[in-house]
Amino acid sequence: MMKIIKAKDYKDMSRKAANILSAQVILKPDSVLGLATGSTPIGMYKQLIDWYRKGDIDFSKVSTFNLDEYVGLDDSHPQSYRKFMQDNFFNDVNINSDNIYIPNGIANNYDCECRNYENRIALAGGIDLQVLGIGHNGHIGFNEPKEHFERDTHIVCLKYETRKANSRFFGKLDDVPRHAISMGMGIIMKAKRIILLASGERKAEILHKSMYGKIDPYVPASILQLHPDITVVADENALQSDGI
Ligand code: F6R
Repeated sequence: MMKIIKAKDYKDMSRKAANILSAQVILKPDSVLGLATGSTPIGMYKQLIDWYRKGDIDFSKVSTFNLDEYVGLDDSHPQSYRKFMQDNFFNDVNINSDNIYIPNGIANNYDCECRNYENRIALAGGIDLQVLGIGHNGHIGFNEPKEHFERDTHIVCLKYETRKANSRFFGKLDDVPRHAISMGMGIIMKAKRIILLASGERKAEILHKSMYGKIDPYVPASILQLHPDITVVADENALQSDGI
C-alpha cells in the first residue's frame, strides 16, 4: 500500500521530503542513500543544506548512490549528473567524497561499470532510503517504458520525450546524450524505503496512473505499487487527479 503525503506546494513538498531524509540519517547515521537529480529534489537538497549549516544534520557517515548518469559526459561537464550533485548538494554538506557514488559516464567498459555499481551497492549493505522523481512518461531513474522491467543496472537508450524534456538544461536537443547508465528496477525495489517526489500538475496524470493503474512496464513507476515501504510526497497540483 503506497502511503501518500500531500504537500501544499513545491516548498512544502521539499521540506517534508527533507524531514524524512533527515530523520533517516538521525536514526541511522551511516545510512546508504539512493539519490536523484532533476528539478524535483532541488528544494529538498536546499533544505537539507540549510539544516546541515544550522548543525541539525551530520552526513559524515552517510554513503550515497545516484540513480543515473549520461553516457559520454565526464564529471566536469556542466550537464553531468555528477556536476549537478556537486553543485546542488555535495559541495555544501559533509558527505565524505569517498562515499559518494555516481555511475561513471565515461567508463571504458560499460557492462563492467554497471556490474561494479551494483556490487558496490550490495557491499554497502543495500539502499536504506531511495529518493525518486518521476518522468512524464513514468520513468524512474532512466528506466524508460518498454516491454519488460529492466532488473539490472544497464545502459538505456533515452526516449525522444525524455531527451526533449531534458533539453531545457542543454542548449539544444542535439546536445542531449542519447544514452545513460541507470540503476535497474531490481536495486530500486530492494531499497528498504522509497520516497517518490512529484510536484506540479504536469505530473498529475502519470503519478495517478503509476499509483493506481495496472502494473505495466510501459509505466515503469507502476512497479512501485509492489514495494512494501513506499511513500509518495507530492504537492496538491500533482495529486489533483487523486481525489484526496
Ligand atoms: C534523475 C532521474 C529522473 C528524474 C525524472 C524527473 O536522476 O532519475 O528519473 O527524476 O526525469 O525529472 P524532473 O524532476 O526534472 O521532473
